[in-house]
Amino acid sequence: MKLVRLRDASRPRITLTLEGQAIEAQQGDTLLTALLAAGAGHLRESEFGDGPRAGFCLMGACQDCWVVVEGMGRVRACATLAAQGMEVRRG
Ligand code: FES
Repeated sequence: MKLVRLRDASRPRITLTLEGQAIEAQQGDTLLTALLAAGAGHLRESEFGDGPRAGFCLMGACQDCWVVVEGMGRVRACATLAAQGMEVRRG
């Protein structure tokens, strides 16, 4: 899955990493938006065997978007703001 930005393209840029690869995001993005807009494709593998997951509810309820952030542990990507320098791994 890839998200496409349709508006707010002028917000300040930030840089974070996913699996050690630098990605660019915009200040105010959630991690889910930042990662999927950068082409991450998915956020985690399903523990139930039905393939990669990229979020579902987008409001912190389904637990389908877990990622791991250095220094923060496991967080919901849809409910966590992206920040400059974050080091993110798929959950
Ligand atoms: S997408 Fe459902 S909790 Fe994040």
